[in-house]
Amino acid sequence: MTLSTTRGTTVSADDAARVIVTNGGTPLKGRIRVGGAKNAALPMMAAALLTDEPCVLENLPILEDIYVMVELLRHLGAEVDLDTTKHRVRIHAKDFDQRSAPAELVQRMRASFLVSGPVLARTGEMETPAPGGCKLGSRPVDVDVRGFKRMGANVFVGDGYYSMTAPRLEGADLYMDYPSHTGTENLLMAATLARGETTITNAASEPEIVALGNALREMGAKISGLGTPYIKVKGVERLRGFHTSILPDRLEAGTFAIGGVVTGGEIILDRVNEHDMAPLTYKLREAGAEVWWNDNAMMVRAGHTLESLEIQALPFPGFPTDLQAAFAVLLTQAEGTSRINERVFNDRLRYVSELQKMGAEIHLVNSQEARFTGPSRLRGTDVQALDIRSGACLILAGLVAEGETRVHEIQHVRRGYEDIVGRFQKLGANIQYA
Ligand code: EPU
Repeated sequence: MTLSTTRGTTVSADDAARVIVTNGGTPLKGRIRVGGAKNAALPMMAAALLTDEPCVLENLPILEDIYVMVELLRHLGAEVDLDTTKHRVRIHAKDFDQRSAPAELVQRMRASFLVSGPVLARTGEMETPAPGGCKLGSRPVDVDVRGFKRMGANVFVGDGYYSMTAPRLEGADLYMDYPSHTGTENLLMAATLARGETTITNAASEPEIVALGNALREMGAKISGLGTPYIKVKGVERLRGFHTSILPDRLEAGTFAIGGVVTGGEIILDRVNEHDMAPLTYKLREAGAEVWWNDNAMMVRAGHTLESLEIQALPFPGFPTDLQAAFAVLLTQAEGTSRINERVFNDRLRYVSELQKMGAEIHLVNSQEARFTGPSRLRGTDVQALDIRSGACLILAGLVAEGETRVHEIQHVRRGYEDIVGRFQKLGANIQYA
């Protein structure tokens, strides 16, 4: 498979098992354009299963996870035309060949569970294994499954798989014990074709969910309350196709912004939504960095010092759990004692041991809390990407460290960042595949 086809180096997956970052300490400088958000693209692709009309998504990020979703949609019977050069996908789910998702795809990515709501709502049947994905601690799907049951589905839970049937889903009052991101998306999509009204209380309010909801509205869905913990959906008989552009990836933007600050550099990120970046903007400023906005361009410049601070990773608009690993690199360079409290996942600080190998002074209080004493002198060595965001964190650490940092298992990072190497090179980093 060929990757990263449009924005920089073209590499084959086999040739690119690791990246090497050398001469860390070079300040990042320059300007790059932020791509479309993976975590909005995946549910929006699944939403195309709700209609027999074609759906087109522009500004699609070209990533491993997108290829997995393309395969899954094709397996179900949708026609999928993926144009990697134009960053566009056209999906036409006229009919279904299958109502079951194959284990080899579902185990590669948790977001594959997102096809369950649409397939169940449109066809009345769905079979799927429990999803895999990044290992961040416990990742159940009971919010989704309980919701489907409340909407009248019969759900049989076998050994690691779900079999669901519902001739027609019925609107219901749903209360989510936890504001699950993909759980909210699955139930929102299912409710669009249910008979009657559905309310979702304690819904998640991430910008990607609002973007999905807006695409569903373009399809003719009747939804109110997007971006709040109370979503209301009036079910309709059928939905139309959509043609829409995916919102900018706040996590990609955040990773580059943190990179600019931690290397003492200055960068401009084009096509970023200010509102979506607010939690990070506050914390970068608190750390002493300067952040300005000009329309949809975000300008970030390192301050004279980096101040220690506390991060609480929480659902939006709390600080994004997906950026706490990247921010940890900044905290290794901040003066004094800092703290990260990961309150979304119960095991998302495993990257700490990799940063410790590089010389970071971090005390892991428990699997959800880390204390940093900075600044630490980071030295390059061999480290392992454990998941998408920990891999990005280790690349950032390499951009700060003395000597050569070899980040192994880089395929995890390619699931979530398009051409990360080419784009860091564009900002002046000494980084390459090896
Ligand atoms: N949870 C429950 N019950 C459930 C579902 C979730 O208790 O039924 C708990 C989980 O155990 C976890 C927490 O809720 O502790 C958060 O899980 P959530 O379901 O909200 O996360 P997700 O939908 O699996 C999405 C993103 C993640 C991102 C999280 C949090 C996608 C495809 N994935 O995951 O993105 O970290 O929301 O914002 O949208 C990434 O991009 O690297 C990534 C992991």
